[in-house]
Amino acid sequence: MAARAEGVAKAYGAGETRAVALAGVSVDIARGVFTAIMGPSGSGKSTLMHCLAGLDTVTGGRIWVGETEITRLRDKKLTKLRRDSIGFIFQAFNLLPTLNAIENITLPMDIAGRKPDPDWLRRVVGTVGLADRLKHRPNQLSGGQQQRVAVARALAARPEIIFGDEPTGNLDSRAGAEVLGFLRRSVDELGQTIVMVTHDPTAAAYADRVLYLADGRIVDDMADPTADLVLDRMRRFDSRRVA
Ligand SMILES: Nc1ncnc2c1ncn2[C@@H]1O[C@H](COP(=O)(O)OP(=O)(O)OP(=O)(O)O)[C@@H](O)[C@H]1O
Ligand SMILES: [Mg+2]
Repeated sequence: MAARAEGVAKAYGAGETRAVALAGVSVDIARGVFTAIMGPSGSGKSTLMHCLAGLDTVTGGRIWVGETEITRLRDKKLTKLRRDSIGFIFQAFNLLPTLNAIENITLPMDIAGRKPDPDWLRRVVGTVGLADRLKHRPNQLSGGQQQRVAVARALAARPEIIFGDEPTGNLDSRAGAEVLGFLRRSVDELGQTIVMVTHDPTAAAYADRVLYLADGRIVDDMADPTADLVLDRMRRFDSRRVA
């Protein structure tokens, strides 16, 4: 397993403003698998991802990343595990404007004082198709290229698992397809484990598995999704909500 949640609960606030974001989520995320998380706005997708990634604390339940139970870790060890074992791709690319592409890609490792493995780095850069853009700064790159830099940055450190919160949400459909293709290839060719939140059935169809959240619970778990199957599933949820 790359990650595991057992009975994870998360509530924000207290008293009248208390909001239950996760109401007991248990899930295993296998190594080398591309998982999409879908569900209506407010269903807890981002919260689940942030908890799995150790970016947010839980109010109940347990989470493991690899062999390590992160819900028992103190701040310092958690920060180190996050730095060494987890990659992130956010909707806003979070690139540093003064650094060029390759400097952005290796920044997390530079901060951690780790030397990138040159062969691996070459493969990652090749996989995301950035070899001829490495000296460009973010403002000299298209949105799709910037997001590919963010993908390469997440892949470069060989994390145990990569989390993306709508990583293609800010891209047009062509650039989005490009990035999703690279995520798919990084799973197939590099053995990466990826968990991605998305609203887009086409994006979810790149995954091996789709988890559906509603009201802070996993309500479905679909293997080998296609865009049509996902769309059909979403419609059924919508009609039940209306009913
Ligand atoms: N910091 C916070 N303080 C209070 N409530 C929060 C906080 N973060 C999230 N929530 C609540 O938790 C619930 C789940 O939020 P979450 O962001 O996980 O939803 P989501 O599925 O990612 O939605 P979206 O698709 O809109 O991004 C929502 O009801 C939200 O209002
Ligand atoms: Mg969200």
